[in-house]
Amino acid sequence: MALSKIDSEIEQVDQEKYLRQATSYYQALEKPLKYGPAVDSLSDLVAALHREFESNYVNIEMVNHLMLSYKSNPREWRKYAKFDRYTYTRNLVDAGNGKFNLLILCWGEGHGSSVHDHADSHCFMKMLKGDLREKRYEYPNRSARDNGRSHHPDGEIDSRELVEIGETPIAVNDVAYINDNLGLHRVENPSHSDTSVSLHLYCPPFDTCSVFQDNLKKTTAKVTFWSKYGVRTKQNEQ
Ligand code: SIN
Repeated sequence: MALSKIDSEIEQVDQEKYLRQATSYYQALEKPLKYGPAVDSLSDLVAALHREFESNYVNIEMVNHLMLSYKSNPREWRKYAKFDRYTYTRNLVDAGNGKFNLLILCWGEGHGSSVHDHADSHCFMKMLKGDLREKRYEYPNRSARDNGRSHHPDGEIDSRELVEIGETPIAVNDVAYINDNLGLHRVENPSHSDTSVSLHLYCPPFDTCSVFQDNLKKTTAKVTFWSKYGVRTKQNEQ
């Protein structure tokens, strides 16, 4: 009994290592896979994700396909889209049997996130409404070996400030993908007149991540939910 628990923990670690290596260079799909299943609604998407995550060997490309195949329909996601005046909000749509979190993020005019990592999870981000701009940075003080890739082929990334490696606009229905091997990012609604809404999938789910300042000062941030399943959370349930 104890042995099988250890075996399954080893398998879990191997799987995470495999996924990190396999996704070191992963580029999000621009078009759905030709032979992938169709997704006709948000509830279809949730059901297909549950099926995909039944196995311990999650196919990241298939998750990407499913996220990309869903075409934003505000009637389906409106009940989760709760805004705050001062900051973007994180609204839980589905807790994925503990294997993933599906969230709707609501961005008021000019709202943005801090530069952060993803606690070794996979992050898929799909636009549902409006625009977002994603800025990426090198993950500081990670060697080329840890990263599996580096913009500094000789080894250590030795900088005293964040190194920007790209800026990408994300348009409605597009999907972006990032993990810690690909770097850090911050996301911003560039519009001062329109709100934006995005759908995020994190696997495995995480409760905290690291937030970085320009001078690389790193702090741990707890991630909270503004609402769960369409209902505003109380302070002690976030
Ligand atoms: C983002 O990717 O910038 C949003 C982070 C979050 O989940 O709060």
